[in-house]
Amino acid sequence: MASFTLTTRSAAETLALGQRLGRRLLPGDIICMFGDLGSGKTTFVRGVAQGLGIDPGDIHSPTFVLLNIYHGRLVLYHYDFYRLEKPDDIAAIGYDDFLYGEGVSFIEWSERFGPLIPKVYLRTEFVFIDETRRRITLSAEDERYSRMLKELKAFSP
Ligand SMILES: Nc1ncnc2c1ncn2[C@@H]1O[C@H](COP(=O)(O)OP(=O)(O)OP(=O)(O)O)[C@@H](O)[C@H]1O
Ligand SMILES: [Mg+2]
Repeated sequence: MASFTLTTRSAAETLALGQRLGRRLLPGDIICMFGDLGSGKTTFVRGVAQGLGIDPGDIHSPTFVLLNIYHGRLVLYHYDFYRLEKPDDIAAIGYDDFLYGEGVSFIEWSERFGPLIPKVYLRTEFVFIDETRRRITLSAEDERYSRMLKELKAFSP
């Protein structure tokens, strides 16, 4: 079990954290994201995209489409479950078609998973502190994601 928390002081710092994670991702990685509206989740994914060699300008919040797919070093599946109301909705959309494939999946509003939450995933929690600061906590239970977090931590600002 590993976790670390940091406070970013600008969108650029959140992007940079995402970028560092993006460079370390492996096929099949699942990153569940939790936190309020405007807390920085999409910004973080934009950084991840950059780390995967995808133009970050292409990344838009998928709130209205549920899933966006981007092609970089790995395929990036960017989900946003904000509009889903119950776990049944999640089952109905066949959310796991991609989740357990060779790409990497980032899921905004993972609160909505309920019991369908994947067994193993990297957990990220975003808290709005004020206009420019966000508290971000990354945590993992299993060994592989824990190792990834230790590396990320070592490179933190
Ligand atoms: N430290 C910071 N980290 C991330 N974003 C920040 C920070 N400071 C300011 N911002 C701004 O806050 C906003 C975060 O919006 P973003 O779309 O990333 O949030 P979100 O968590 O995806 O929200 P939603 O739940 O609505 O999808 C952006 O406009 C960004 O520029
Ligand atoms: Mg978003």
